[in-house]
Amino acid sequence: MRDLSNLFDNNRRWAGEIKKKDPKFFLKLSKLQSPRYLWIGCSDSRVPANEITGLLPGELFVHRNVANVVVHTDLNCLSVVQFAVEVLGIEHIILCGHYGCGGVRSAMESAQLGLIDNWLRHIKDVEGKHRGVLARIKSKEKRFERLCELNVLEQAHNICQTTIVQDAWRKGRALSVHAWIYDLRDGLLRGLWSRHQ
Ligand code: CO
Repeated sequence: MRDLSNLFDNNRRWAGEIKKKDPKFFLKLSKLQSPRYLWIGCSDSRVPANEITGLLPGELFVHRNVANVVVHTDLNCLSVVQFAVEVLGIEHIILCGHYGCGGVRSAMESAQLGLIDNWLRHIKDVEGKHRGVLARIKSKEKRFERLCELNVLEQAHNICQTTIVQDAWRKGRALSVHAWIYDLRDGLLRGLWSRHQ
């Protein structure tokens, strides 16, 4: 534990600062969470969901994996979506990718990194589906950026196709799906697409 004492120091400082503003903050949160948003994003350490959206603990339900992929049979991701939509009653699902995504780059370059190559096959599928559009982009960096965007859009589409979202919409529930992209170079989010119901 010796090497990580700085993290505990940080934690005590962080909790202290929050309690200074609202002495009952953690007590209230320990009883109930009622986030309005579900964030599905990349595991990348440079894309911390709460920080970049300025949201506090309790305000954002989060699922992250390498390259923000939504696989139709991924029980982990689907369980998060089901719990968020049906139990927590969240109203917005945000699928957020980012430029400079290492997962997308590795897929594009067909890098051999081990087990994760199997996961990144899903990005190769996105690349294959949009081969024509991507082939017309001469610059490799621009092609990479476009694939990051296409990946977000495809994964947002996958979210819409889940039984959970389809059921919610069939029942007339107010639930929106948003595709966003985050730029590591300026810290800004940009909306690419959204579907409301
Ligand atoms: Co990434």
